[in-house]
Amino acid sequence: MARAHPPQSPPPGVAVLSDPATNHGTAFTHPQREALGLQGLLPPAVETIEQQVARVMDNLQLQATDLDRHLYLRALHDRNEILYYRTLHDHLAQTLPLIYTPTVGQACQEYSRRFLAPRGLYLTAHDRGRMAELLRRWPQSQVSVIVVTDGSRILGLGDLGANGMGIPIGKLDLYVACGGIAPAQCLPIMLDLGTDNAALRDDLFYLGLRQPRLQGQAYAQALAEFVAAVQAVYPGVLLQFEDFSNQPAFALLARYRDQLCCFNDDIQGTGAMGLAGLYAALRLRGGTLGTQRILFAGAGEAALGIAHMVTAAMTAQGLSPAEARARCWLMDSQGLVVAARTDLPEHKRPYAHDHAPLPDLHAAVAALRPDVLIGASGTAGLFDEAVLRELARGTPRPLVMALSNPTSKAECTAQQAYAWTGGRAIFASGSPFPPVPWEGTTLSPGQGNNAFIFPGVGLGVRVCSARRVSDAMFFAAAQALADQVTAADLQCGRIFPPADRLRAVAAAVAHAVARAAYAQGLAEKPEPADLDAAIRAHMTVPRYRV
Ligand code: NAI
Repeated sequence: MARAHPPQSPPPGVAVLSDPATNHGTAFTHPQREALGLQGLLPPAVETIEQQVARVMDNLQLQATDLDRHLYLRALHDRNEILYYRTLHDHLAQTLPLIYTPTVGQACQEYSRRFLAPRGLYLTAHDRGRMAELLRRWPQSQVSVIVVTDGSRILGLGDLGANGMGIPIGKLDLYVACGGIAPAQCLPIMLDLGTDNAALRDDLFYLGLRQPRLQGQAYAQALAEFVAAVQAVYPGVLLQFEDFSNQPAFALLARYRDQLCCFNDDIQGTGAMGLAGLYAALRLRGGTLGTQRILFAGAGEAALGIAHMVTAAMTAQGLSPAEARARCWLMDSQGLVVAARTDLPEHKRPYAHDHAPLPDLHAAVAALRPDVLIGASGTAGLFDEAVLRELARGTPRPLVMALSNPTSKAECTAQQAYAWTGGRAIFASGSPFPPVPWEGTTLSPGQGNNAFIFPGVGLGVRVCSARRVSDAMFFAAAQALADQVTAADLQCGRIFPPADRLRAVAAAVAHAVARAAYAQGLAEKPEPADLDAAIRAHMTVPRYRV
C-alpha cells in the first residue's frame, strides 16, 4: 500500500546513527535526540555507557562459541565504536582471548566465509604503481599507527593470505584498549600480494587475490613501494610489521629499521617479552641471567628475537658476546643448530655452536641440560612427556615457555608442564591457559605474549614523537614489563601480569620507551616536566562526548 504522505528527507541524526564513530545508540540523551531528529528512531530508554556495556557482556554469554563471541564483538565494532572499545577497556581479561589470540586465529581461518563488513585498507599486487593514491583514500588524516601484514605467517597457522586481516585489526584493538591510542589514529593494512595456500585460492568464499604470492624482486619492489607510500602519505607514522613469514620479516627489519619509525613485533616485541619473562622467573627462583642455559625449540623470528635480546642483556651484565651466545642453543625443523650444518641462513649462524648434530628435542634436552626451554616452533605437543621429564631431571625449577599461538599450536599445555615436571616448572604460554589445581594449591600460568610490549611501545613512541624504534627502547620495555610483575603474581607462579593489568603495563612500558628515546636523542618533542602526566593525557578512555 502507498504511504499517505511522501517520505521526508531523513533527519541528520540518521547519518550519526549509522556511523560507528558517532553512534551512541541508546545513550543519546533526549536533548541530543531532539537536536539530531532521532526521537522515534530509538527506544525511549536513555542508558549510560555502563548499562550498554553490561548488555554486551550479557549477550556475549549467550553466544554458543568463542568464534560467535568474536563475531558479535566485530559487529558491535561496526555499529558503535566507542561502546566496543569501552567494553574491551572495562573487561580486558574476558575480551582479550576473543578479539586476540586464541580466537583471532580461528577468525582468520574463517575470515572470508564469515565476512561481515570491510575494515582497514587492502592494497594488492594489482595496485602496484598507485599505492600512495589508495592510501590517500583512507578517510582519516590523523593516522599515527599502522599495523601491516602480508598474511604469509599468521600466528602458527601458516599462509592465510588476505584472511590474515584479522591480525592487524586485533593488534590495533589493543593499541586502543591498552595503549589508549584514539581509534581514528589506527590503520590496519592487508598487503595482499597473493597466497601460496592453494586450498585458499580454490576456496569458494576466499576474498583475497587468487594468485601465487609475488616472489623475489617483484615482492621486494611491492614492499618498497608500500613503505614509500606510507612515508609520503603519513610521514612520521609508526609502522608495525606483523606476521610476515620468516625471510621477508628479517629482510624488512634490516632494511628499514634505521630509515623510518618502524619495528617488527614478532622479532622485537617478542624479544622484549621473552627477556621480561626471564627477568621475572629469576626473581621467582633465584640465579643470574648470565648463568642460564637456554634452549629454543624454533629458530625463527620469535626465537631469534628473544635470543638477541637475552644475549645483549647478558653482555650488558659483563659476559662477552661469544660467552652470551654460547648460553643460547636453537633447534629448528632440521634439528639442533650446529656449526657443521650447511643449510643455515645468516641470521641463525651466530648461534651455530660446535656440537654433534642432534635430530630431536629430547636428545637436545638430554645433551644440553637447559634451565630454560622456550617454544616458538608453531608445533603443537612438541614438549611431550619425555621432553619435559628429561628437562626436569636436569634442573630443579625449569622455566618453560610454550609461546606458539594459537592454543592449538602450543608446544604443551599448562597442565602438562606442571604434571610432567612434578609441579616444579615455571610456565608461561603465548595463548592463555586457566589456573591449574596442584597438590592443594593453585598454579597460575602467565601469558607470555607481545601484547605486553607493543601497545606501550606505540604509546611511548607517540608521546615523545620518536623518529626511530631502537633496541634500547625494547630493553627498557622488557625491564618495565618485568617490574610490573608483583610479588603476589610470582607467588602463584605467574611471571607476567594478568591481562586486566595490560593498561597499567602499557603506561609503564610507554614511560620507559619515551625515556629511552629522550636519552638517545630520538624524540622530536621536548621532554615534559611530568612524563607520567603526558602519558596519561595521551591515553583516552572510550566515552561519549556530550
Ligand atoms: P617462524 O616461521 O619464523 O619460525 C618457526 C621456527 O620453528 C622455524 O625455525 C622452524 O624451523 C621451527 N620449527 C618448526 N617445526 C619445528 C620442530 N618440530 N622442532 C623445532 N623447531 C621447529 O615463525 P615465528 O614468527 O618465529 O613464530 C613461531 C611461533 O611463535 C608461532 O606459532 C607464533 O604464533 C608464535 N609467536 C608467539 C608470540 C608471542 O607473543 N607469544 C610472538 C611471535 C610469535
